[in-house]
Amino acid sequence: MLTKEQILEVLKDVKDPEINRSLVELNMIRNIQIDGDRVSLEVVLTISGCPLKVKIEEDVVAAVKSLGAAEVHVRFGAMTDEERAALSAQLRGNQTHNMVPGQAQVLNPILAKDSKTTFIAITSGKGGVGKSTVTVNLAVALARLGKKVGIIDADIYGFSVPDMMNIEQRPTVIGETILPVDKFGVKVMSMGFFVEDNSPVIWRGPMLGKMLRNFFSEVHWGEDLDYLLLDLPPGTGDMALDVHTMIPQSKEIIVTTPHATAAFVAARAGSMAIRTGHQVIGVVENMAWYEAKDGSKEYVFGRGGGAKLAEQLACELLAQIPLGQPETHPAEPDYAPSVYQGDSPIGKLYRELAERVVKKCAESNVNPS
Ligand SMILES: Nc1ncnc2c1ncn2[C@@H]1O[C@H](COP(=O)(O)OP(=O)(O)O)[C@@H](O)[C@H]1O
Ligand SMILES: [Mg+2]
Repeated sequence: MLTKEQILEVLKDVKDPEINRSLVELNMIRNIQIDGDRVSLEVVLTISGCPLKVKIEEDVVAAVKSLGAAEVHVRFGAMTDEERAALSAQLRGNQTHNMVPGQAQVLNPILAKDSKTTFIAITSGKGGVGKSTVTVNLAVALARLGKKVGIIDADIYGFSVPDMMNIEQRPTVIGETILPVDKFGVKVMSMGFFVEDNSPVIWRGPMLGKMLRNFFSEVHWGEDLDYLLLDLPPGTGDMALDVHTMIPQSKEIIVTTPHATAAFVAARAGSMAIRTGHQVIGVVENMAWYEAKDGSKEYVFGRGGGAKLAEQLACELLAQIPLGQPETHPAEPDYAPSVYQGDSPIGKLYRELAERVVKKCAESNVNPS
């Protein structure tokens, strides 16, 4: 004979895919009815049109059937405003245990000293070199390696990550807590989610830092992210300083094109990193060459810039990525205009880059220099 307790116990292992916490802990399981080997129960969702309903239903049914139930019927309900507010408080409550003395700001646990999340800011001297492309593909490649990854699209004016990854979904907001959007196994937060119809953002100066702060204080990243990549605006402006203040332990990857002058400009971003004490884990040279059909390489944007920059900054040239477009098409379900398939030639280069980044970070975390 099945009992409610058994059912609640087994459902403790079923998580809300967005919040990544147990449905039981979130008080989302209600009205369990047992009739012999038939079970019916209600799952109250944070929002009624929750796109992850199907997944939740499958997981709940599988869990209850594993106890021997022959039939499991799941009904869906939605939380009331009060319940949502309480949940938001619960999620935030979890984020307040790491307040820094003297700082009123509520900090996300991923910013705490004992956080296991490695932050990597992706920077460049100027725009258009492929910084966002590298951020997105490195994140996806890390996720393909089984890592838990997030992206903060901190390019407040020039946000592009949602389009590049083909994200149409908007983040779920529970009370005052924002859940990042999951795409290709990467949790994404972008200013672009909050801007209507692609209209330009006209905030200045301090607002930028505030926005970045909100991306930490109000976004529920979960507690077990391995890597959080930050796509910073080009150049060496205020945002770089904000990142330094908030995340002094952040590492950096500098993206450049192979042209000598591009590398020269990127070197400024590099010296900024050194001034702020961020460890530069390496350089990525993007648009390194164009490979013609016969396999020969044409160095369309010059040659040697990445190696030269790496030498100047005394770090490694982590990857050279050639010119090329992803080969998926809009009709395919996993289409995204800027994400290379894992088994494509450039996708493989990103995989190698991700492996190198994992190794570099592991080395430097054991032996901080
Ligand atoms: N390796 C590459 N091959 C072809 N196009 C690329 C490559 N890397 C980036 N691009 C394209 O170049 C443009 C600028 O890239 P983006 O990542 O937006 O640069 P940034 O973030 O530095 O401004 C985009 O249209 C992008 O699709
Ligand atoms: Mg960009």
